[in-house]
Amino acid sequence: MKVENSLRQLQTDYLDALLMHWPYPDFFQEIWHEMEAVYNEGLVRSIGVCNCRQRHFEKLRQTCAILPMINQFETSPINSKPELAEYCRQNDIQVMIYSPLMNLRLQSRPQYHDLLQHLAGKYSKTKAQIVLRFDVQRGMIPIPKSTHRERLESNIGIFDFTLSEEEMRQLLACNENRQYMPESRSCPGL
Ligand SMILES: NC(=O)c1ccc[n+]([C@@H]2O[C@H](COP(=O)([O-])OP(=O)(O)OC[C@H]3O[C@@H](n4cnc5c(N)ncnc54)[C@H](OP(=O)(O)O)[C@@H]3O)[C@@H](O)[C@H]2O)c1
Repeated sequence: MKVENSLRQLQTDYLDALLMHWPYPDFFQEIWHEMEAVYNEGLVRSIGVCNCRQRHFEKLRQTCAILPMINQFETSPINSKPELAEYCRQNDIQVMIYSPLMNLRLQSRPQYHDLLQHLAGKYSKTKAQIVLRFDVQRGMIPIPKSTHRERLESNIGIFDFTLSEEEMRQLLACNENRQYMPESRSCPGL
């Protein structure tokens, strides 16, 4: 594993997180054991996985010394994955959300978009900010990406308002297991 190369290129002596992109069927446990070693060497502050489901963690649990600290996957109000979220919560696995804004591109959901528009108006925020605030209030870490400075600023401007419990319930009620990114064929694995 070439974590040292990354450290050199980034001109730092540690990384905040090292993640496995998905549970590679043939090498899942082997890669994880390598990552545990990197963590024990102190080169990274946390180690985790992406695109893992409960069964992947149960598989790792059979041989690992450290259970993943992070699981990065796609979730949003229309794809809330309640069972996986609860599993992560119970096992102290921090949920990190990739593609947190892509759900906004699924236009054929008028009720969802109407609710976002309503909340955006109420709090003088954008629809993207409402979704990101929802994520944070679920205790999750969304990682929106943008090439525009004003959007980068807007995407972190979500800490000056709070959605009510009822509004969180309304957003959670939008769930229809609708994933934007198709899961990679090699992802289900194991
Ligand atoms: N682990 C995995 O399997 C996995 C899979 C997919 C993605 N990821 C990671 O997740 C991160 C983000 O995912 P992503 O880029 O797919 O999706 P995203 O961050 O949800 O969306 C990015 C897109 O949304 C636009 N955008 C950003 N902020 C916006 C705003 N405030 N209003 C409107 N549009 C906005 C960006 O356009 P502009 O640039 O033009 O602003 C860009 O086209 C990336 O770091 C990616 O590497 C991981």
